[in-house]
Amino acid sequence: MNYDQVLSELETLVNDTFSLWEHNRVGFQWRHYTWNHTMRVRAMSMELGRRENGNVKLLEIAGTLHDITKRYDGVILTDDNGKRILDHNGFWLNETLTPAGENVVTDLYKKHNLHGKVHHESGAVITENILQMYDFEQEFIEAATAVVLAHLKPMNLTAENFKLLYGNIENQILYDADTMDPNVGYTGFFRNIHIHAYFALQRGSWDLEEYVRNLPRWINSKQEFVDNLLTESAREVAQARQDRNQHLFTQMVDELDDMEINRKYGLLGIIEYFVSVTEDPHFQNQLQYLQDEWLPERQKWVEEEERDSSSRERAQDSVNRVKHFLNLLAQESRGEI
Ligand SMILES: [Fe+2]
Ligand SMILES: [Fe+2]
Repeated sequence: MNYDQVLSELETLVNDTFSLWEHNRVGFQWRHYTWNHTMRVRAMSMELGRRENGNVKLLEIAGTLHDITKRYDGVILTDDNGKRILDHNGFWLNETLTPAGENVVTDLYKKHNLHGKVHHESGAVITENILQMYDFEQEFIEAATAVVLAHLKPMNLTAENFKLLYGNIENQILYDADTMDPNVGYTGFFRNIHIHAYFALQRGSWDLEEYVRNLPRWINSKQEFVDNLLTESAREVAQARQDRNQHLFTQMVDELDDMEINRKYGLLGIIEYFVSVTEDPHFQNQLQYLQDEWLPERQKWVEEEERDSSSRERAQDSVNRVKHFLNLLAQESRGEI
């Protein structure tokens, strides 16, 4: 068995599976989100695996497959009072969305009657069955299945059940990486802006200044995620990313004092770019566009800026801030701090 070949087949399978649904956006997910999230979580979990002396290949395979059934998730079910319905483990129950097409994953989903199961459970069953089709050792398959199952943590676990579910370090690591990605650091910010702007625009309007001034509420609400991560390495990385977001906020608030320049050249301009493409944003493509086109274009404009030298300097500072922001965003998506 050629490992790289198998990995690439699994990636294709996951990507193809995500594209079987016709709808784009459900709640806080959109079509391209799940794939980009999967790739970032995998990279992060492999990095944590190296730091924690875990099995990096196991994390690579489990990370690839962990959200394989995520697109079955529809809107979260609510009771007569509008309260979200939880199952006995504290997971939100959601509607199941039927895919428009079929493949081996949807066949397995039907065969094993996974309808209505939360996606870590259905994902674990699919993972096990898919990996059986390849030449993996049974022990590896069981370990990968357990990692996928543990990527959502039931509430109020007893110490005994915690040990059962998270006894292996890889299980803790994927949970940590999966929790960090949407919540802390610039990857969390990317998700936040796209959710926030999308819903604001649906309601009719979105306000740049209000968005920036309210960022601390969102950032501070994430501290408890950081504190409750399971591995020490993850808490360390997540705290660094959390601090990075606090700093990002101060940079953005300062930019509000020089609105015209910064909407054109600075982080405010980046925010407005994100807001201009909220339908089905593709993280990797947007990052690449910003690095390869948006930024070089602004750099050229700075050089041609015909106003006084102070404007030119401020514009250059703004461009430098954006360059730094994009470098860090790319770094995070590779799983680095
Ligand atoms: Fe998930
Ligand atoms: Fe995930």
